[in-house]
Parts: sequence; C-alpha cells; structure tokens
Amino acid sequence: MSEIIFEPFRIKVVEPIRISTRREREEWIAAAGYNVFNLKAEQVMIDLLTDSGTSAMSHHQWAALQSGDESYAGSKSFFELEAVARETFGLPIVIPVHQGRAAEHLLFSALVKPGHRVPSNGHFDTTGANIADNGGDPVNLPIPEAADTAAYHPFKGNVDLQQLEAFLQNAGDDVPFVLLTITNNSGGGQPVSMENIEGAAALCARYGKPLILDGCRFAENAYFIKLREPGYADWEVPKIVRKMFTHASVITFSGKKDAFANIGGLVCLRDEELAEKLKNRLIVTEGFATYGGLAGRDLAAMAQGLREILDENYLKYRLRTIEWMCERLLKNEVPVLVPSGGHALFLDAARFFPHLPPEHLPGIALVIEIYLRGGIRAVELGNVAFGKRDEGGADIFPRLDLVRLAMPRRVYTEAHAEYVVKVIGDLYRERETVGGWEFEKEAPVMRHFRSTFRTAR
Ligand code: F0G
Repeated sequence: MSEIIFEPFRIKVVEPIRISTRREREEWIAAAGYNVFNLKAEQVMIDLLTDSGTSAMSHHQWAALQSGDESYAGSKSFFELEAVARETFGLPIVIPVHQGRAAEHLLFSALVKPGHRVPSNGHFDTTGANIADNGGDPVNLPIPEAADTAAYHPFKGNVDLQQLEAFLQNAGDDVPFVLLTITNNSGGGQPVSMENIEGAAALCARYGKPLILDGCRFAENAYFIKLREPGYADWEVPKIVRKMFTHASVITFSGKKDAFANIGGLVCLRDEELAEKLKNRLIVTEGFATYGGLAGRDLAAMAQGLREILDENYLKYRLRTIEWMCERLLKNEVPVLVPSGGHALFLDAARFFPHLPPEHLPGIALVIEIYLRGGIRAVELGNVAFGKRDEGGADIFPRLDLVRLAMPRRVYTEAHAEYVVKVIGDLYRERETVGGWEFEKEAPVMRHFRSTFRTAR
C-alpha cells in the first residue's frame, strides 16, 4: 500500500471559512482584550481551541439524530447507547450525563470528602476543580520525563508508580480512589501504557482503593499502545480497550472527544450500590437515568460515534496528523513537545520565546501572534491557565508553559495542517521581534478563560 495516509472520509457537507486579513484580526483581537476566548468563532479561520465537541459527525450519526427516541423514560436510544458502551468498555452499568465534567461532578460529590487527596498521572482542569469543589486536593504524580518537553518517552502520560506507592503509604486513609487520565491531556495528550495501568491497578488492589479512569481519549490511548508498547502490535484495538478497562472500577467519559459527539458523557461502573446513589442524585442534577441531561438524539449520536471511533484506519490517520505536524516543526527546530500526542500539538512557549520572562506570559504572546499571523486559534495552558498567586500576590508558575493546538476530529485537511505548520515556522524565525504581555484584568480562577491582557510595560 502507498505510504501516503489520506483522510479516511469524503466530505459531504462543508462550512465555508471566512478568510480574514491581518488588519481585521488586529481590530478583533484588540476588541477581545487580547484573549482569544473572547473572539467570535467567525473571526477565526482555523479553530484549534479544542477537540471537544467540535468533531464532524458521520452521515450515520446524522441519521441517528433523526431516529433518536425522545421518550422521557426508557428511550430506545438509551438502550442502544448502553449496549455499545458495555461492549466497548466492558463495565456493566452505564449512566448518561450531558458532558465529561457532569460525570466528574456526579461521581465526586458521592466519593470525595473534605480532606481527601486524589493522586493521578495528571488531572484535567475540570477534574481537579470538581475534586476541589468537594473539599478534596487533586495531586499530580507524573513520571519525571513529563516535565521535559524535549525528552522522548513512548508513554509520557504514565503515573510515577513509585511516587504513587509512597503516596498511598503516607496518605492512604485520605485517598478515596486513584485516577488515571488516558490520554493525559494537560501533559501533552500523552498516552498511558498498559503496563502502567496494570501497575496502578496492582497498587490500588494492594491498598484497597478503587481505580477510576478518565477515558475521554481512550481510543487514541489504545492505538498508542498498539503502536508503541511491545506485545500489542497484533492486537485488535477493541481488545486493547477492553484490557485497559479491566481494572477500572469506574470510568468517566466525555462523548465530546472519542465518541465524535457534539455533546454527551458517561459514567460507567460496576458497583450497584454506588450506581443507585448516582442515579438518585442524577435526577436532581441532570435528569432521569435513561437520558441524563441529553436529548434522545444526542444519546443516539454518541452511540453511533462509539461504534466508529475504534476504526484503525481512522486512528492511524488521527495520530499521524499530529505526528506529521510535529515532524515538520521539529525540522525547523521549533520547540514542540515530543513525542507527538493524540489530539493536539503542544508548543513549549518558554523555549519558543526565551527572551521573555515568565511574568511577561510567553504562552499568551504565542497565542496572540499565531492568531494575528494566521487567524488560527490556540489555547494557552501554562503560566496563565495553571499559574496561581501566593498570599502576598507573588506569581507561582507551573512547571511548563505550554500552548495547545487541538485538532477537531475529521474537520480539517492536510492543507490546513500544512498552513498551521507554516505560520508557526515563520513566526519562530522572527521570534525575537515579539514582545511580552501582562494582565489587564485578571480572572480569579481558570484565568485563561476570562482574563484580558495588555502589552507588558
Ligand atoms: N477530562 C479530560 C481529560 C478532558 O480533556 C476534558 C475536557 C474533561 C475531562 C471534561 O469533559 O468538556 O465534556 O466536560 N476537555 C476539553 C479540552 C474541554 O479542551 O481539553 P467535558
């Protein structure tokens, strides 16, 4: 077969892109307070803000929307979703919710108490926030390689098992469960190996703790295992998926990622007593247990997306897209996080602009420049998003200052990817001309969403 991997789909419906000029973008970003979250989507040419809820649905998914059953209780679409989720993940109880963070909210309100500490390879921001919201403390224990964007490790999303064991020994009584995020979004869309999942599961068994998997990007993680972990090259992806979840007591899932859905999520579990509690609570917060805050058609679209996501030709194209962009940027010595992750390209803003001190927000400078030059929307996941202040107001910066360009599923073509790479490559050659930024208005939490910026004085 030819070496060229092309998009394994044909385009049947198109959404025109408004081609803008630099002058227009200068005005729009100024009016947006230099925060790309405040832009109108039509002011963006290539929107890589997130891969969440932004997938192009297949014709089968659109057809499923038409045949969705809108019954309040006992919807046919729920039973279809339940069957495909059971088959895919292998857990018997399936509870729908409107998106991933609703799954987190529902589950953590039942399991997390004030004083609890929850270790993980890397909590996503809503995951950490939902643990904190219930009085708990989310603790990240990634492997040391994860802190170095240039270090190669095939499973940079792994949890540090030695640290996890020490943590369970010291803080065991306060730990309600261990959580693994697959893939690890905040750490670069990096996969977790089967060996690491099994290692964490063995520690959980030894210390009597449930293992919870945040499975938002489970299909990408499984395909990485097939590609990178010895012994799995000949395995069918669905079998790898089933094995990954063998040891999971609970799965939280956002259908907005690896189910090609625009909305939807799941909690899958084994414990009937816990399920009863969650279903009772669900009625207060999301809805009856056979729709969980979703329309019947959304359940149907998510079910169909789960049937499509494990297609190896899709997964091969999906992971290769990011890898291809990474390779081209590395050729131009652009500091991109390696190895390439599953859903996004991550740039190391601190290494991109070494002349900018951290308080001049290199990640924000990068996001603004990429928008001005290319009309491309990326997101800062660094000093602004994860930075905090101590009691005296001094900055506490995170270990990495990253900018993420997330690829929506089945939306953009290779030419779009090439354009993105060209814009970033050209910017890198002229990086010394770029100045720093500071807060104009600083939002109290998750600062990247609502803060505004001005040029640093
Ligand atoms: N867990 C992970 C690993 C995620 O990446 C996300 C969302 C969630 C949970 C929450 O799911 O959005 O359906 O409520 N990530 C999106 C992103 C928002 O852009 O990375 P949700």
